This record gives sequence, structure tokens and C-alpha cells, in this order.
Amino acid sequence: MRKLFFIPFLFLPLTTMAACSSDDTPASQTEQSTTPDDPDNPSGNSKTLVAYFSAQGHTQAVAERIVELTGADIYRIEAADPYAENPYDDSDRIQNEAYNDLRPGVENLPDKEIIAQYDTIFVGSPCWWHQPAMVVCTFLEAYDLKDKVVIPFFTYGATTYLNESMQKIYKVTPESKHIPKTLPEDLNPDDITTPGPPDDAGIDMPGSANDTEAWLRRIGIIK
Ligand SMILES: Cc1cc2nc3c(=O)[nH]c(=O)nc-3n(C[C@H](O)[C@H](O)[C@H](O)COP(=O)(O)O)c2cc1C
Repeated sequence: MRKLFFIPFLFLPLTTMAACSSDDTPASQTEQSTTPDDPDNPSGNSKTLVAYFSAQGHTQAVAERIVELTGADIYRIEAADPYAENPYDDSDRIQNEAYNDLRPGVENLPDKEIIAQYDTIFVGSPCWWHQPAMVVCTFLEAYDLKDKVVIPFFTYGATTYLNESMQKIYKVTPESKHIPKTLPEDLNPDDITTPGPPDDAGIDMPGSANDTEAWLRRIGIIK
């Protein structure tokens, strides 16, 4: 029933779609340790990068909170062929990219030397048609991420298909280390398009910008 569970979300207001992120507000300045640098050009100053794609701002809010709390550099993945301002208007394109495992171009890929400087890369995306935004996969496959620690995070309208989205990130970064190290068994690994048994339980996500600090503690990034 998982796919049927997702479909009603397409008809809900956008604020409801991002249920996990609807309470995103700018972070308290008292907790601010760094100002995010130019999100199109990560500086390579930190050993940690937060790379994210976001169409409606929810994943961006979590990404910026991670940066505030960790001092990481930030990089916003931009699609070479931008999505509609309201991504639901591009739903057919997004579904086609996800279901056919396409790799849309990235407008602003950083130099390989810049990415090579990072030990740890947070990778953020919305769940789009049961997968990461596929530009995120394009970004990840452009680099040698062997032995780097990759920490995926998603925002989503429903937790269904979260496991499929996470599995994809792990699949395109086969030589990386991951947090978490392992995922729940994908109970329907060869089919992301039809309903399958629920298998998201146990995947820990930040949820919203407000909950990101607790998540970073739970996964051992901050104390
Ligand atoms: C075309 C489209 C497809 C989506 N597919 C899913 C999905 O499969 N599962 C889900 O839980 N949410 C889905 N969503 C909801 C988004 O994941 C959610 O709104 C997310 O927080 C958006 O992140 P952003 O604000 O960073 O773009 C979809 C949204 C759009 C626009």
C-alpha cells in the first residue's frame, strides 16, 4: 500500500507535503557559529561538506542548520535544466528521472580538487518519486568518494520510500563509509514503482531544521 499512501500527498498543500520540515525557522543567532559561505562554491576550508539539493527550501533549512552546528562548508546542487518553481508542475519529469534512474546535469559541479579535501560529506535531498532528486546522484558519481564518510539526509512528505531513497545514495557511493553503516533490508529492491511491504522503520532522519541538533547528537557528530 505504500505507493497509494504517497499519492494523496500530491494533492495536499505544499506546506503539508513537507510535513517533516513545516516548522523550519531561521536558527537562533546565539547558536550560530559560522556564516554559510557561497553555496555555489564550497571553499574547502572545513573537512566537512554539506551538499544538498532543495526545490522548496525544506532540505535547505536542514542543510543550513547542519552548517551552523558543525561549521561545515555548504554546497547547493543546482540542476543544469532547472525545475519549475513549483516542482509539482514538473512531476512527470521528476518521476521519469527517478523511475528510469536518469542523471540530470548539474550546473555548478565543484572542481574535483575541492571535493577531494573533504573527509565527511552530508548529502541532502527531498524524496522525489521514491528516490533522491537524481541530480544528487549525478553530483555523487562525479567524484572519487572512496573512504569518505557520506551521511545522507532527506526531507519528505511521508516516510514511505525513505529506505529506497537511502539505498540509492548508498548504491552510488559504493566505496564510501556511511552513517548509518547499514540500512534496514530493502524488501522490494528491484522495484521502486509499485507498493511493497513497509521497510523504513529504524532510519533516523533530522526531520526539520529544529530537530537537526538532536539528530546530529544521535548520530554522534556533535556532543
Ligand atoms: C514531484 C514530487 C515528488 C515527491 N515525491 C515524494 C515521495 O515519493 N515521497 C515522499 O515522502 N515525499 C515526496 N515528495 C515531497 C517532498 O519530498 C517534500 O515536500 C520535501 O520536503 C521537499 O523538499 P525541498 O523543500 O527541499 O524541495 C515529493 C514532492 C514532489 C514535488
